[in-house]
Amino acid sequence: MAVGQVQDSGGIAVSAEQPGGLKWTYFDPDVVPAWVAEMDYPLAPEISNALHAAIDLNLTGYPYPQIEQAAFEAATDFWHSELGWQVDQSWVFSVPDVIEGTKRAIERLTKPGSPVVLHTPVYFPFFGMVGRAGRQLVEVPSHVDDDGTYRLDLDGIERAFSHGAGSIVLCNPWNPTGRVFERSELENLIQLAERYESRVISDEIHAPIVYEGHEHVPAASIAPEVVVTVTSASKTFDLPGLKCAQVVLTNGNDRENWASYFTPETVGVGTLGLIAAEAAYGRSKDWYRDLVAGLQTNKDLLVRELPDVLPEVKLNETQGTYLAWLDFSAYELDDPAAYLLEHARVALTGGAQFRGSSSHFGRLNFATTPDRLNEILARIRGALLAL
Ligand SMILES: Cc1ncc(COP(=O)(O)O)c(C=O)c1O
Repeated sequence: MAVGQVQDSGGIAVSAEQPGGLKWTYFDPDVVPAWVAEMDYPLAPEISNALHAAIDLNLTGYPYPQIEQAAFEAATDFWHSELGWQVDQSWVFSVPDVIEGTKRAIERLTKPGSPVVLHTPVYFPFFGMVGRAGRQLVEVPSHVDDDGTYRLDLDGIERAFSHGAGSIVLCNPWNPTGRVFERSELENLIQLAERYESRVISDEIHAPIVYEGHEHVPAASIAPEVVVTVTSASKTFDLPGLKCAQVVLTNGNDRENWASYFTPETVGVGTLGLIAAEAAYGRSKDWYRDLVAGLQTNKDLLVRELPDVLPEVKLNETQGTYLAWLDFSAYELDDPAAYLLEHARVALTGGAQFRGSSSHFGRLNFATTPDRLNEILARIRGALLAL
């Protein structure tokens, strides 16, 4: 599909016509989509060039060790320079995507049959994934401070561990709440996991997108033996359809266990995904920095405009991710996202899916142009004023 002409916005070029992808094709054409975590920006040129070159070179066969090693080298360099996290290349293993990597980590690296804790509200594909891993799910709803800050319920998590839960899937940065956990919060969680010999499986896919005043702390940098990290370039560089993610095993026993089970034939990563990951992690840092600057502009726009445009809607502080967690409870709507889809022709992700008593929330993806973000806000305002 033609992407159309390109305009400049907040340091990031954006396609002017309606692009393709799941985000833009799922709903009717009159709907402005702000739901699934895809971005409205063209690919980083290095990624685009690498993929075009790969096609020209017929690199559509099976993944091969050199490209996987190049991707791992680029990834470990990126994690070091951008996250301050030192990872040896031999600790990195390919998986097709973060959800599948998390499922494999539960199956292979936690006590056989042990239940899995999720801190709700949380990225909803986790729920089905735990079921597919054949494990019982223990939902521990999080605490919310008076200012709307979400916090792990450590007592609830400890209860779950003491009743046999063998792991927690941590979402840091936290989709949908936008929290970036502080070091002390991670330390407290890890201490509990250690006490009960449970594992922390940390989904850090949003780690590179963190805003001024906050810092992503890789959980494995605190406790390499306890934590399993699952990540990908796919959110930051908009590559989820290429199926390439990484599990970082900072525990030596995990590495042995994993390597004996996931032979090259069973990994399931794609060649083009590895090529794109190498170009993303290794050669797209300028683009990445512009991206974060542009997203910061959009986040600031939301913080600035919301009190005027939507004074009854509360915005949780978005510390990381490009997802804003909006509280519509003032409107007493059963399902704000369904109402706004019908009456504002704006697609948010409904809060109920994330569980944890979130039915009065909607998640707004603000990885778009400032103009489109303003249009989204104006449409929502119009629909809410009609109530
Ligand atoms: C927290 C989180 N984890 C995982 C994913 C999906 O990753 P993947 O497509 O690699 O499974 C997303 C996608 O938005 C996400 O927000």
